[in-house]
Amino acid sequence: MSTPKFRVGLIGAGGISQAVHIPGWKNLPQVEIVAVADLSEATAQKAAAMAGAKQVFTDYRDLLELDLDAVDICTPNKAHTPAVLAALESGKHVLCEKPLAVTTDEVRAMGVLADSKNLKLMTGQHQRFTQGAVASKTWVDGGNLGEAYHARVRAMRRAGLPPAFGFIDQKLSGGGPSMDIGVHALDLCMWLMGFPKPVRVSGSAKTVFAKGHGMPNMWGEWDRERFSVEDFATGYVHFDNGATMILESAWLSHQEENEELLAQLYGTKGGLKWPDAKFTTVINGTHAQGSLTHPINVQHPHWNEIAAFCDCVQNGKPSPVPWTETIKVIGILEALYTSSTEGREVAVKG
Ligand SMILES: NC(=O)c1ccc[n+]([C@@H]2O[C@H](COP(=O)([O-])OP(=O)(O)OC[C@H]3O[C@@H](n4cnc5c(N)ncnc54)[C@H](O)[C@@H]3O)[C@@H](O)[C@H]2O)c1
Repeated sequence: MSTPKFRVGLIGAGGISQAVHIPGWKNLPQVEIVAVADLSEATAQKAAAMAGAKQVFTDYRDLLELDLDAVDICTPNKAHTPAVLAALESGKHVLCEKPLAVTTDEVRAMGVLADSKNLKLMTGQHQRFTQGAVASKTWVDGGNLGEAYHARVRAMRRAGLPPAFGFIDQKLSGGGPSMDIGVHALDLCMWLMGFPKPVRVSGSAKTVFAKGHGMPNMWGEWDRERFSVEDFATGYVHFDNGATMILESAWLSHQEENEELLAQLYGTKGGLKWPDAKFTTVINGTHAQGSLTHPINVQHPHWNEIAAFCDCVQNGKPSPVPWTETIKVIGILEALYTSSTEGREVAVKG
């Protein structure tokens, strides 16, 4: 008798789903991608052909009627919450792309529902599954950083504004580079810090270049009228243990690097930079430094993320990226935006 397949449905089957999620699911021999739902039937059909899925829907509520173990949600950010809640209501475990939601109220609603139904909910923070991240986490968990008392988080692009409406229209994305790429570096940094509780944030989010016409962009033109998010944001975060953090993210800026992703941690025993996984410390009164490596498959962090989700569902393990961590990440970004609008330091919800 053959073992039953792990039955998966895909909701939102555009860019990231086709590029890395479908190949990641197909890489797992125990998985069958049963169905695909996308508002665009052509997109759903194309993805279903890639995935070997027999059923296609334009309304994800029809997909959720099926007998599935889990769903993988890759819609634009603002469409995550209704889809995640409906999927959990229908009894499916959920993997959802980052940012899980753009407010702490939404993250909490999802998390409470998942917990009440004993279902797994995982945020798709694939950067945690890179070699540099695993090596860095292993080094930190070994006690080499000591207490993290300060951190710098950067997700700064020179000419990397994604023109799709799902990113630049506030009604679809809920935020600009902070929600797009800032969330990666912030999640990684918080994970390495051991997720201290953020308590207050002073921030500024502004549109510096994206309404104008002077800045080149590697992905071409975008709709200036519909652009309704920030293109630069910065924040200063205080944690309840006294630690602090500076956060910066941008899609367009005057800098030499095409993209700088950075989480730099300052600890009482050592320092660490991700994604390079470079550390500094003091040995017998002398400065020392080096690079960390870890022998994991470094080729496909998204595939590693999907395999970790599948493993947590099939083997009853905790979610590798639980909502209780994500709510602190989103709490910081939510407070940053509120601080920017109200012109004052604000308390982090969560
Ligand atoms: N982790 C990463 O590396 C990474 C990279 C890119 C995007 N993302 C995230 O993935 C998500 C999707 O981004 P993308 O680049 O694939 O966008 P995309 O626009 O290419 O694809 C989104 C798809 O969702 C569909 N959709 C929209 N609303 C829907 C709904 N209510 N029901 C069903 N389908 C719906 C759209 O028709 C589209 O095909 C975003 O949350 C984004 O932040 C993550």
